[in-house]
Amino acid sequence: MVGMSYVLINNEVVEREFAKIDIEDRGNQFGDGIYEVIRVYEGKCFALNEHMERLYECAEKINIHIPFSSSSLKEKLLHLLQKNEIQDGIIYLQVSRGVASRQHHFPQDEKSATLIAYTSEKTRPLEQIQNGASAKIVEDIRWLRCDIKSLNLLGSILAKQEAHAAGALEAIMHRDGTVTEGSSSNCFAVIDGVIYSHPVSNLILNGITRRYIVEICKEQNVPLKEQEFTLDALRKADEVFIASTTAEITPITQIDGVEVGNGLPGLVTKALQEHFEAKIQDAILNPIS
Ligand SMILES: Cc1ncc(COP(=O)(O)O)c(C=O)c1O
Repeated sequence: MVGMSYVLINNEVVEREFAKIDIEDRGNQFGDGIYEVIRVYEGKCFALNEHMERLYECAEKINIHIPFSSSSLKEKLLHLLQKNEIQDGIIYLQVSRGVASRQHHFPQDEKSATLIAYTSEKTRPLEQIQNGASAKIVEDIRWLRCDIKSLNLLGSILAKQEAHAAGALEAIMHRDGTVTEGSSSNCFAVIDGVIYSHPVSNLILNGITRRYIVEICKEQNVPLKEQEFTLDALRKADEVFIASTTAEITPITQIDGVEVGNGLPGLVTKALQEHFEAKIQDAILNPIS
């Protein structure tokens, strides 16, 4: 690591090597908490407000009280970003239910959440965005509250590992033959010029990148249906792509070793990528301060 790196722990910004988390933190023991990953382009946060909103919404869903207002948390994150002089990278942020002796039910003190955030440099995956990547179809064995960005990621980890072991970038998951999402991304299929994506429900995470795609489609009059689609439809789709904060819009050009369409990133995907790039450039020019 080059230079000093700072992390945020609750109210304090400390050098990373002095950061300490209690061994009985419920994030550590149970994965009892939530997180966000925020993209940083040229030192500027992308979609910070949307990430903050989702964080507070998820906290509410599991009754975690975040001990700061959204605006003061935003300020702290921007301060951390500046201090660490991040150019292209991410802010990772998590909030757990805090420290308590190990028992499943919530601790008495509901105001003891632990918040940590750190930054890291991460270049954009430009090669993959341009040329596409492969995916493996994996059964979705996760719990039934995938709308919560929970720290508890075992289902996603096992799916991703299965894909990784098969040499694929992403696991595209399904429940009984209905495509839900990627292990760490949302999934889209383009069929006869229409983009399909699983509707927002408890079975997927409503990704911030996904929301941008929905917005772009509205702005550009591109037909998009938030509608369930089957594995069979996915396999026959003209184009498939995944979307996330770090993968951006990545074309999926091969599924289970079989080419999608003609095996190259498709025109609909490429057009979306261009509009998404414009949103990134806009965020760089008009940063949230
Ligand atoms: C399961 C899952 N779905 C979708 C996404 C994409 O969300 P976002 O665009 O907010 O990064 C993620 C990101 O980590 C994820 O883990």
